[in-house]
Amino acid sequence: MKIIKAKDYEDMSRKAANIISAQVILKPDCVLGLATGSTPIGAYKQLADWYKKGDIDFSEVSTYNLDEYRGLSHDDPQSYHYFMRENFFDHINVDLNNTHVPDGSNPDAAAACSEYDRIVAAAGYPDLQLLGIGNNGHIGFNEPDDHFSKGTHCVDLTESTIQANSRLFDSIDDVPRQAYTMGTQTIMYARMILVVANGEAKAQAVHDMCYGPVTPECPASILQLHTNCVVVADEAALSLCE
Ligand code: GLP
Repeated sequence: MKIIKAKDYEDMSRKAANIISAQVILKPDCVLGLATGSTPIGAYKQLADWYKKGDIDFSEVSTYNLDEYRGLSHDDPQSYHYFMRENFFDHINVDLNNTHVPDGSNPDAAAACSEYDRIVAAAGYPDLQLLGIGNNGHIGFNEPDDHFSKGTHCVDLTESTIQANSRLFDSIDDVPRQAYTMGTQTIMYARMILVVANGEAKAQAVHDMCYGPVTPECPASILQLHTNCVVVADEAALSLCE
């Protein structure tokens, strides 16, 4: 694991965008694994700015997102489908037909998840997988558990995740209780992993991810076993790692 300390959120976002941009320049038809949450928004904005300046071209890139709430339609403003268009896809020249997010609108969890596994495998898995981290150490929506997950599956969100994500909804009752998420094993198949984290609220999770025991109680800790994992975090998120 390589840990890169950023001064603040802007610095973290630029550094992460630089790494993603290098991937796209080196391999224009690369497969990017993408994440939602507030943390990557600054990196998406920076990439969109560079696209507008003509520095980066997404026309051949294909993308696979980590997760989606179960039960939300694609045009629901709280869905991750919507989030990705709003924060990234609508601002770059990616072909929307080459962007993929698990189908939360399909009530048949087994069908939605196995279809997602099929297309991620057919794409050859991400060249670069971008990840945020939950306060409880989750990646995608792989919550703390007694085992590491494998492929895409339906999860019951923990109270702490529902609480943390409720800030983005009108009321906590509106937060979906389930999600479809790429599994931990699939995430580990990515050839490079880039984790972004900022703020004091992530300090414990970032410490446990980087230095704690490798345990499904902190799903992100498995990234210690990945051969090409880079963490870009600001000083506050790294405050327990000194
Ligand atoms: C959600 C997403 C994760 C994300 C996490 C942290 O639960 N499923 O992929 O990493 O939130 O979000 P934030 O970046 O807003 O702290």
